[in-house]
Amino acid sequence: MKIAIYPGSFDPLTNGHMDIIERASRLTDKLIVAILRNTKKQYWLAEQDRLAMLKMSTSHLGNVEVEVFGGLLVDYARSKGARAIIRGMRMVSDFEYEMALQGINKHMAPEIETVYLMTDGKWSYLSSSLIKEAAAMGGNINDLLPPPALEIVKRIYSLTDEGEAGR
Ligand code: PNS
Repeated sequence: MKIAIYPGSFDPLTNGHMDIIERASRLTDKLIVAILRNTKKQYWLAEQDRLAMLKMSTSHLGNVEVEVFGGLLVDYARSKGARAIIRGMRMVSDFEYEMALQGINKHMAPEIETVYLMTDGKWSYLSSSLIKEAAAMGGNINDLLPPPALEIVKRIYSLTDEGEAGR
């Protein structure tokens, strides 16, 4: 069975991430979406919210599992028997970081390939950071996240349907 890992912070999950998850799930027998737990990092959303939004948003995909991981990605990938790490690439600006990430991962685990999927052009401008910024200032983020993720973000930030901050 071919297993691939799609790692990320997913803080929050975006439509760009969903595009990669749906396409990657068609390329492998099992796709594990792995949410990073970095105890040194301050996240916008709690771990249980990131986990819940991913589980609900991927429930229609039979070969997708969602887990939280800590430590090195390659150690986690090995523990799952994964041969591939999936990453999305949006624009040239992603390239430098992704090049370095795959380089060190390849150094530590030569048997694991990093596979890049170009994010659908429709979402190439989208990032979790921009969603956070827009939401925190009451911007309309309605069509940028899958519905379960939007619901969680709106609950936490008390946004109205028009995208106005309610607090
Ligand atoms: O969504 P992100 O924040 O771009 O994802 C980054 C992620 C989770 C892929 C990366 O930070 C990661 O793999 N972290 C785990 C620790 C690790 O293995 N770092 C790379 C080698 S030092």
